[in-house]
Amino acid sequence: MQSVLITGGAGFIGSNLALELERRYPDIRTTIIDDFRSGEFSNLVGLRGDLVAQDLASMDLCARFRAGEFQAIFHLASITDTTVADPRQMIFNNVEGFRRTAEFARLSGTPLVFASSAAIYGVCRSGHMPEDQPARPANVYGFSKVLLENLARRYAAGSRHFRIVGLRYFNVYGPGEAHKGAASSMIYQLAGQIRAGKRPRIFKHGEQKRDFVYIKDVVEATALAAEANRSGVYNVGSGRATSFNEVVALLNKGLGTDQEPDYFDNPYSFYQPHTEADVALARAELGYDPRYPIDRGIAEYVKGLIGGDTKRNEQS
Ligand SMILES: NC(=O)c1ccc[n+]([C@@H]2O[C@H](COP(=O)([O-])OP(=O)(O)OC[C@H]3O[C@@H](n4cnc5c(N)ncnc54)[C@H](O)[C@@H]3O)[C@@H](O)[C@H]2O)c1
Repeated sequence: MQSVLITGGAGFIGSNLALELERRYPDIRTTIIDDFRSGEFSNLVGLRGDLVAQDLASMDLCARFRAGEFQAIFHLASITDTTVADPRQMIFNNVEGFRRTAEFARLSGTPLVFASSAAIYGVCRSGHMPEDQPARPANVYGFSKVLLENLARRYAAGSRHFRIVGLRYFNVYGPGEAHKGAASSMIYQLAGQIRAGKRPRIFKHGEQKRDFVYIKDVVEATALAAEANRSGVYNVGSGRATSFNEVVALLNKGLGTDQEPDYFDNPYSFYQPHTEADVALARAELGYDPRYPIDRGIAEYVKGLIGGDTKRNEQS
């Protein structure tokens, strides 16, 4: 790759992706678009590339960039606070930002990778989640991602030479997420409570399960998706579900603490009791091979947190 565009590149996943691509390809030209509504400049310390601080949803990409000047476009910009309930705000930002990016990519047939989400599955009791399940988003954030996928299918059907790949990220955790506050991963928030000497607060009785996926696996899947042979959508998780109780136990182990969970009533009626990515398709078609089971991911993350690195660890 010689030149890439990353929207939302000052965010958690985008900044990790940008710095990792620069590490892998020393001559790469990286361009980021981010309006900093939730991004954080310090995530990008060390960046060698360019940054356009503009709102993508109202930006004329054709006026700013030359069609074909990028070898790949990664679209990660989104409102990521899933508690934002205003449909106009969420849908305008997420869908129009995507539409502009996709239409720009389509002009030159530049491969486009975009962030979808496991939120499109909504409340799914079985937990097992292959890509062909019907979408049942339980909030407007998830609904906006369904709209992205619908548009992507339309663009892909309209041009055989334009590859557009959606990635349904599950619960991503790792260095570079501190700026997300209440929207940061549960792993980051529980680690913070334990490190402050408090008991970690989780819903009664900690048996809910999530597919927590480490940022390094997510960056790998995202980079691989730019080389996909066809358009499509793929789950990006670890492929394993872990209970909240197990997360607390692993955090205690990594932090050298012994804090019992402080259980409280779950206030949400729409709460996924179990998420687990089926990653068979991503494995077969993208070559995605998650390398960070939860114990390895948490151990590495916690080591960085203790060392004062809330941004990122050295990539390995
Ligand atoms: N982190 C997760 O667990 C997770 C899970 C599922 C999906 N995703 C998706 O992955 C992508 C990245 O998420 P993240 O965790 O890095 O979140 P993040 O909030 O750290 O990053 C999103 C970035 O997009 C930028 N942005 C938003 N709207 C913009 C606009 N209109 N113009 C320019 N910049 C804009 C923000 O300023 C921010 O830097 C998002 O699309 C998100 O929906 C993340």
